[in-house]
Amino acid sequence: GATLWLTGLSGSGKSTVAVALEKELFKRGKISYRLDGDNIRLGINSNLGFSAEDRKENIRRIGEISKLFVDCGILSLSSFISPYREDRDEVRALHVSSEMTFIEIFVDCSLDVAESRDPKGLYKKARAGEIKNFTGIDDPYEAPEKPEIHLYSDHMSLEEEVKIILSYLEDHNILQPL
Ligand code: ADX
Repeated sequence: GATLWLTGLSGSGKSTVAVALEKELFKRGKISYRLDGDNIRLGINSNLGFSAEDRKENIRRIGEISKLFVDCGILSLSSFISPYREDRDEVRALHVSSEMTFIEIFVDCSLDVAESRDPKGLYKKARAGEIKNFTGIDDPYEAPEKPEIHLYSDHMSLEEEVKIILSYLEDHNILQPL
């Protein structure tokens, strides 16, 4: 198992990459499980909002959940904005201390492009002041300094992005059957 941690702005394409990757992994006989806002923030983390403190706790819990999947030999595809470097580093440290693999994937996308996609109409609301503390608008995003994988989702195709991740996994012997 291993945790593939996708970080980036809302609308950067984290979940899209994770869905496409999951399909390719399945074809190769590798079981993965996607964690994202849809299954985590609506359930186990439904008591958390978007203050820095709540985001920290969101990421901490997701880090622990990811570890449980890694522990049973599954690839955890965790897609969260996770805007704070320190919070991501803590999840990394948590994995390292248990000798588990943690791969940080920066889904890099300019704010302009993410905002123009606006799949959930949330940027529009944030610009109108209807949502406060929206990442990229009136809340920070701290880009990874040395991610294992750096994708540029505003000018790479989805196929290209998935290929880069698969190559990394192959090169690091992570695609071997159990
Ligand atoms: S994180 O910052 O704690 O990692 P997470 O990835 O779980 O965030 O959730 C982000 C998703 O919540 C966004 O894609 C968006 O749909 C929604 N959302 C609602 N309010 C905010 C906000 N203030 N900032 C960012 N995303 C928000």
